[in-house]
Amino acid sequence: MTKELDKIILRYKGKPGMLLGVIEEAQKLNPHKYLTKEVLEYIAKQTKVPVSKIYNIITFYAFFNLKPQGKHSIIVCRGTACHTRGSKNLLDFLIRYFGLNNGIEGQQSSLTTQDKKFTIKTVACFGQCALAPVVEVDGNIYSRVTEEKLKKIIKELLKKRK
Ligand code: FES
Repeated sequence: MTKELDKIILRYKGKPGMLLGVIEEAQKLNPHKYLTKEVLEYIAKQTKVPVSKIYNIITFYAFFNLKPQGKHSIIVCRGTACHTRGSKNLLDFLIRYFGLNNGIEGQQSSLTTQDKKFTIKTVACFGQCALAPVVEVDGNIYSRVTEEKLKKIIKELLKKRK
């Protein structure tokens, strides 16, 4: 792992946004799309950036993960426009659908199904408020989402896996 990290750090050395790029690539190296404490400490050591600063970056951007992620990600927008148009119901539906007992608290929390197939997350706003409620599934944005639409999307994903 350190060899790959060294290569990434070298590739970004001296470039603007170096740290963001390095962290993003490091996350991609992990099969469960997350950053371990060891990886972050290694990046801090090699780039001479305090580990606290690296954590600040990670907690600012929703696409960085500190916990193992499922194969598929479903991100529900919890901004005002989406909330007004029922995003809380969508989130509750997903939690019920996947049998996840704990709720989602705050922007950085996420829930992953036991089989590690799906991770459910929230985001403050996708910047697509006119299309509320908005849900992102595996990087694709879906607008005016309903429970029915979500069920269909999930079923399609499950079909693809076979
Ligand atoms: S509030 Fe959901 S996209 Fe802005």
